[in-house]
Amino acid sequence: SNRVQDRRTFDEAGSAARVEALVEQGRKGEFDNAPDSDPDLPGNHIWGREIADRMVESKLGDDLVAEARVESAEALEQIVARGVAAADGWQALGADERARILYRAGERLEARRGELLEVMGSECGKTLDQGDPEVSEAIDFANYYAMLGQVIGQVDGATYKQQKLTAVIPPWNFPVAIPAGGTLAALAAGSAVIIKPASNSARSGAIMIEALWEAGVPRDVLQFVQFADRALGSKLVADPRIDRLILTGAYETAVNFRELRQDLPILAETSGKNAIIVTPNADLDLAARDVVQSAFGHAGQKCSAASLVILVGSVATSKRFRGQLLDAARSLKVGTPENLETQMGTIITAPDGKLLRGLTTLSAGEKWLIEPKPLKSDSPLAADKKGNNKLWSPGVREGVKRGSEYHLTEYFGPILGIMTAATLDEAIDMVNEIDYGLTSGLHSLDRDEMALWLDRIQAGNLYVNRGITGAIVRRQSFGGWKKSAIGAGTKAGGPSYLYGLGEWEDAPVSA
Ligand code: ALA
Repeated sequence: SNRVQDRRTFDEAGSAARVEALVEQGRKGEFDNAPDSDPDLPGNHIWGREIADRMVESKLGDDLVAEARVESAEALEQIVARGVAAADGWQALGADERARILYRAGERLEARRGELLEVMGSECGKTLDQGDPEVSEAIDFANYYAMLGQVIGQVDGATYKQQKLTAVIPPWNFPVAIPAGGTLAALAAGSAVIIKPASNSARSGAIMIEALWEAGVPRDVLQFVQFADRALGSKLVADPRIDRLILTGAYETAVNFRELRQDLPILAETSGKNAIIVTPNADLDLAARDVVQSAFGHAGQKCSAASLVILVGSVATSKRFRGQLLDAARSLKVGTPENLETQMGTIITAPDGKLLRGLTTLSAGEKWLIEPKPLKSDSPLAADKKGNNKLWSPGVREGVKRGSEYHLTEYFGPILGIMTAATLDEAIDMVNEIDYGLTSGLHSLDRDEMALWLDRIQAGNLYVNRGITGAIVRRQSFGGWKKSAIGAGTKAGGPSYLYGLGEWEDAPVSA
């Protein structure tokens, strides 16, 4: 295969320059995706221009989305009834057989990696370097929850009661990993699933779901829906036959769902307004890189993204740090995902409302160090479904004041605000007075500062000397605190998540 050939060239040439060139080629996806490469070798057929070239015209998933459309309350009734009826058979299979199917789901997701990357780029502006780890995360969820499903019910002296039906309502920003995570967790816990991916990313969800069907999850056990109107979504959640709701989205959406049915257990990961604190004891080069990646990866459209950087003491006046941060942000190549040079892709739809305000207005005392601008592009992927431009450059504002709108609001886009603090304690106060608590970062090499920060900071996911996006399944189970969660205590990619999808009877009194 080409891979072997590439390795031979590498060995023969051996020079640093050659290695550099190969890395650059790989980054641009210029390795030949040879039809003769072994498609069963994971990763051998995925990187490349071929995938990107298909993004513009991609129709993947269109037919599945059309089939999934639910027009009436009667149709929804049938879907719910089918799900309830299918749950018994799914539970009767037993944990081991379900796990076998879910491990196979991981294999099918791997086999369809190229298509998933194509459709995520086409639909959501996701670049290959963002989409690729996302597919890996979905595969990690399959393997991890399959394993955990086998463990459930084997806890001494306790019985795990499986639920029949789970509704999964995921967002568009991680259009493969988040829907896959919720679905695979519920399936592993023995529940049937009705999933409604966000309409902006329904085709990505569809290909993920099809991979699970291919693995052997029966279609009645995993039903894919799109609703003709919002009222049907509310009707689904309000239905007493739904035992669990897995929701990722805005805090307000979660509250609305909770009000529909007070007795429904909800596992919700909601909004975030996340900050990275940089102290004078930080490795400033590393900090600048991590802040830029965390703020502008996927154009800042991650609940985990860094929206604030808080500079402590002398870092606030460090010309070197500021220079690096701004250079790195300015040098980001902004564009559409079929261009392999692109480092920051598009916003999901032309910005309006809160995000547009965040991109265009400043509060008293603030100033743009880099002003965000709409960019012109000939690519069809730069326009949203209504034909409006969704390509914007990143923004960096300084002078953000404590208690200001920017300090406390989630914008969900490519904007970073700079705040300054005299001490680490003051910086931590600034973070803790935000209503949300999803991810948080500290850049410092000082053990005492780390200990202080870990002791005081209020967020579900804490990262020291690392970016604050891209939690790793099982090792960094992901979930929020304060207004970043509803149904506290459960974290995706961790054991509590699966346990929260059922009920424990006769649980042993813990020692
Ligand atoms: N789990 C995603 C991340 O960690 C949201 O970035």
